[in-house]
This record gives sequence, structure tokens and C-alpha cells, in this order.
Amino acid sequence: MIRARVIGTGHYLPERVLTNFDLEKMMDTSDEWIRQRTGIEQRHVAAPDQATSDLAVLAAQRALKDAGLAPFDIDLIICCTTTPDHLFPATACLIQHRIEARNAAAFDLNAACSGFVYGLATATAFIESGRFRRVLLIGAEVATNRLNWKNRDTAVLFGDGAGAVVLQGEEGERGVLSTYLAADGADAHLLMLPAGGSRIVPTKENIGTEVHDFQMRGQELFKRAVLAFGSAIQKALEQNGISASDVDLFIPHQANVRIIQAAADRAGLSGDKVFLNLDKVGNTTAASIPIALDQALQAGRVVPGKLILLAAFGAGLTWGSAVIRW
Ligand code: UT7
Repeated sequence: MIRARVIGTGHYLPERVLTNFDLEKMMDTSDEWIRQRTGIEQRHVAAPDQATSDLAVLAAQRALKDAGLAPFDIDLIICCTTTPDHLFPATACLIQHRIEARNAAAFDLNAACSGFVYGLATATAFIESGRFRRVLLIGAEVATNRLNWKNRDTAVLFGDGAGAVVLQGEEGERGVLSTYLAADGADAHLLMLPAGGSRIVPTKENIGTEVHDFQMRGQELFKRAVLAFGSAIQKALEQNGISASDVDLFIPHQANVRIIQAAADRAGLSGDKVFLNLDKVGNTTAASIPIALDQALQAGRVVPGKLILLAAFGAGLTWGSAVIRW
């Protein structure tokens, strides 16, 4: 059977770092509150002239180099993002041109914080069907320039960054073993950016009003997130006929350390099997898992043969999981 195997990874984080202490000077918050309630200590912030594709290109080039492939080897580029450069064309097309991946089809995928898991499922399906052999899958976000820096409810949570993986179709036991995706649009209102699309177009009257801000019902989302992570992990274990003790490393979407710990505890995943990086990067939405995966590889925590579990939850609502035999 043809499996989708990750043959290269890369990530890029913008140079500028904004600490919780910096935020204390900008709004009514404290390092103590942010660390205790979220686990975040700092986040990276894109430069004013850096858009999502700029971060994505750097991550993609690193992943291609790691894979030992040239850009023209890539058949498909999927860019998972909620903060595309433009409403259209797709950011994936801009990346395709910048890295000169002339043979690649390209499209964006928006499943918010679950974007990378949705993208992985999509890429895997294309590869397993034989339609494409090599897919460049990117999660990239520049969220900080959409934040209202007076709104402490959301401004303290998000950071910018990009992560990329190159997947290749190969015979064998290594690669993506399973994916699981779910959604519940009934609770779309719990996390959204209302304006900018066709429902609320930007007008002189609404610019500067709350319809252009991230709107989030944090507590309700928190509860949904713990349940969704729990079900996504359970499905992943069932799909593979394994138990939590078989998992070598759990790389979750990094939204809140309390959500991750609650989900891991409920699933019976011990703390030493959970990879965390949100203290240094915050919530980077669709970029969070590929950044964490690349850092986990660099830290020597992902090595051939290991069983890696990914799980994510985000706006939509969307959630899902994947199991990879590295
Ligand atoms: O990426 C996937 C989607 N996102 C999520 O899954 C996020 C899920 N939600 C969360 O992570 C948490 O709900 C938050 C981190 C957003 C908030 O944490 P919380 O423990 O749920 O806090 P809360 O909203 O219940 O607020 C507790 C208190 C409130 O004050 P009072 O009413 O108790 O006096 C807030 O006004 O903390 C206050 N507060 C803050 N204080 C300092 C809220 N935000 C801040 C802040 N700094 N940044």
C-alpha cells in the first residue's frame, strides 16, 4: 500500500519577540495571568512588511532542503491558513511562484487551528489515491496584525509563524497511518473574525469597529476544546487498534497548556509524551503543529519507528487527529 511519508520539515518564526512583560505595558494584563491561564510566555510577531506567504516561503524552502528535493519535484502545494495574503488568489499560488514550484497545483485550506490536520488528511488522500506523489503542506499565519491590542481577551494568545512538511508517496509501514476530521458549524460564533468576507464587507462606517476584531468566547471554547481533543485522540487510538501507552509522542495544537494537559490526562497520555512549545510561540493557529513537529525533530524526540499522534481543535468549530509511524 502507498503511504504518505513525511520526508522533510521546516519552520520559520519572525525575529521580533513580544513577551508578556511587553504586553503588560500595552494593556491591562500581567505575565502571571497569561502564564498561569495559558502557559504562554512570549510570541513572535511578523515585521510590518511580512505577510503570511513571506513566512510560508521560508518554512517551505527549509522543508524542501531537508527533504533533498527541488521545487519542481512538488506536485501539489496546500497552504493552511486563516490569514491569507489576500482574499484571493490563494496564498499557495503566491508561494508556488516564489519558490518556483512550476509543476505544482496549489490551493489554500481554511480549517483555522485544525488546518494542518485537515491539510494532512487531504494531502494523504491525494497521495494514497495516486493522484499526486509529492505534496508540500504548509501551515502559516500572520495573525498579530489583525489583533486589537486593546482587547486582552484575544491579544495575549496569538503569535505568527509558519511550518511546512514535504510528504511523499512510498510503499511500506512508515507514514500517515490514519486521519480523523470533524466539524460543528453550529458553534461557529464561538471564535470568528466577522468582517472582511461577503457577509460583512469593510465599509468606511465599520472600519475600526468590533466586527474587524477576533471575537472569542474563551470559556465556552475551552470546554469544547477539551471534549474535542478527547474525542479526536480516542478516534485515533481506535482507528489503529492501539492504546495511549503505544503512543511515543503527542504533538497537539498549541492553544492553551491547560487544555492540552486536561486532554492528555483524560486520554491517559503521560506528561513526558506531550510536546509543548506554546510558552515560546503562543497560539500560531494553522502553523502550530508543523512548527512543533519540526522543533520536536530538532530536539531528537521524533525518530524513525516512533508513533506520533497529532490532534487539533479550532474555529469552525473543527477538530481532528492523525497518527504517523515515523
Ligand atoms: O486555538 C483554538 C481555539 N482557542 C481556544 O481553544 C481557546 C480556549 N480558551 C482559553 O484558552 C481560555 O478560556 C482563555 C485563555 C481565553 C481565558 O482563560 P479563562 O481561564 O477561561 O479566563 P476567563 O475568560 O474565565 O477570565 C477570568 C478572568 C476574568 O476576570 P473576572 O471576571 O474573573 O474578574 C477576565 O476578565 O480573567 C480576566 N482576564 C484577564 N486578565 C488579565 C481575561 N483575559 C485576561 C488577560 N489578562 N489577558
